[in-house]
Amino acid sequence: MADGKPLKIALAITGASGALYAVRTLAELLARGVHVELVVSDYGRRLLRDELGDEATIEKLLPYLTSKYGDTVSAGALSVHSNRDLGATIASGSHNCSAMAIVPCSMKTLAGIAHGLSRNLVERAADVMLKERRPLIIVPRETPMSLPQLKNMVLCAEAGAMIMPAMPAFYQLPQTLDDLADFMAGKILSALGFEHELYPAWKG
Ligand SMILES: Cc1cc2nc3c(=O)[nH]c(=O)nc-3n(C[C@H](O)[C@H](O)[C@H](O)COP(=O)(O)O)c2cc1C
Repeated sequence: MADGKPLKIALAITGASGALYAVRTLAELLARGVHVELVVSDYGRRLLRDELGDEATIEKLLPYLTSKYGDTVSAGALSVHSNRDLGATIASGSHNCSAMAIVPCSMKTLAGIAHGLSRNLVERAADVMLKERRPLIIVPRETPMSLPQLKNMVLCAEAGAMIMPAMPAFYQLPQTLDDLADFMAGKILSALGFEHELYPAWKG
């Protein structure tokens, strides 16, 4: 809560593998009463469907989240913006969106952010976070990576973004794909300043 109003956080889903990371992160933010301003690229929409099935399309996302993660998701609010709408709230620095996460982030979107292209709402909203010095968490996924892709990550890091590659750990002994997704979602939540129990704290 900020001044009695729900915290607003932008979440972008782009066309890299790892839609499960995105839906878990979204569900956890909603469960914390966050107003999530969601924008999904065309290939992000495709990856949601390809990796999670027809029930995970944008139009059915809330029922999907409720059935998978429970009705705690109803604590938050969800606004869905078109990636073509460069006049959406999150395209402006005057909008009080406090942070943004791009989960997962394709190499194409990474390149657009690294070079300040603002070709669509995902890139523009990320650009706004950087220019306003607000937290921007980029979760890139690709392997192997080319030199331009590596350099683009450095450019974004130098501009103030946190680069959090989709690299779940195995020391927590994950048993399922959901365990792997929970690890990444937990890392993202921590970076956004939230406490969570998505994976056990390391006891040494
Ligand atoms: C099934 C599938 C998996 C993909 N996985 C990745 C990936 O892991 N990382 C990546 O950078 N691009 C991946 N791509 C390619 C991107 O989706 C493509 O470059 C697209 O133009 C990205 O656009 P966007 O950033 O606007 O979503 C994948 C595409 C498909 C169809």
